[in-house]
Amino acid sequence: MNYRHGYHAGNFADLLKHTALCELLRLLTSKDKKLFVLDTHAGAGGYDLAADKARRTGEAEAGIVRLMAESRAGTPGAVARYLSAVQAYDRKFGASGGGLRRYPGSPRLVRAALRPGDRFVACEKHPEEALHLKREFAGDRAVEVSQSDGYHALKSMLPPPERRGLVLIDPPFEATDEFEVLLRALRHGLRRFAIGCYAVWYPIKDEEAVRSFMVSMADMKPLVMELRLGRDLLPGKLAACGLAVINPPWKFEEAMREALPWIAARLGPDVRATISAPPAAAASAPAPASGG
Ligand SMILES: C[S@@+](CC[C@H](N)C(=O)[O-])C[C@H]1O[C@@H](n2cnc3c(N)ncnc32)[C@H](O)[C@@H]1O
Repeated sequence: MNYRHGYHAGNFADLLKHTALCELLRLLTSKDKKLFVLDTHAGAGGYDLAADKARRTGEAEAGIVRLMAESRAGTPGAVARYLSAVQAYDRKFGASGGGLRRYPGSPRLVRAALRPGDRFVACEKHPEEALHLKREFAGDRAVEVSQSDGYHALKSMLPPPERRGLVLIDPPFEATDEFEVLLRALRHGLRRFAIGCYAVWYPIKDEEAVRSFMVSMADMKPLVMELRLGRDLLPGKLAACGLAVINPPWKFEEAMREALPWIAARLGPDVRATISAPPAAAASAPAPASGG
């Protein structure tokens, strides 16, 4: 386990994943019923963009920093709400002036959306990252940080007594069999909790592997969103990624169809966003929607 999200926090992949996460949370908390959230691969919780890790890759500069600089009147609602959540987290740490200093990871974005009575479990397997995560939420009784295997939590924590739940699955994809392991765990989760909403992030480094992943997921009827930095994949570098959402709430697709092309257009002329509805809906809706 060498992956550290600190090198990548706020990059284009986080823009896709975190805009979607904020929108899912908003829609799922709009009903007056308790919600359970499980973040299976939570990371450190929050990231210092001035730290060596982030500066070395420059990924946040090309991602969240650029998006913030480009945001103005007319920003789609889902993007504006995501950017507000990022700014609120940055302010919480007293950052002011000199640009964005701290970036919220998925646990921080979830925490900001929780209402009293909602429940949140964040799993992180790496001891150092788990320690950071525990420190991030020290004394916060609304968050349960578990240093454990997030795939196992799909078995042990589902179905939640709340009967309403959001599960974020965001693995580092270091292992060559990650797609297979993820699929097995996801199927297990769905068998236990079929009505839950699941958001699954994946890298696009090998088109064939992703195609086969999509074929395996077809019966789950996911809404599939992808962001590509250019026409070609770059060897050894992440230049495209996707997020598959199973059982998305009403209005989510509409919000993301507005948000993603807007984000893509701000990141560069060759950046493209696509959204593919599940097969049944796809027959009546033109897909994909491309950015630019
Ligand atoms: C992509 S990062 C998570 C980023 C985070 N979800 C966010 O959006 O801010 C993936 C994390 O999963 C952790 N990890 C790897 N295998 C795991 C497992 N089986 N269970 C839980 N965490 C794991 C890694 O240590 C890493 O911190």
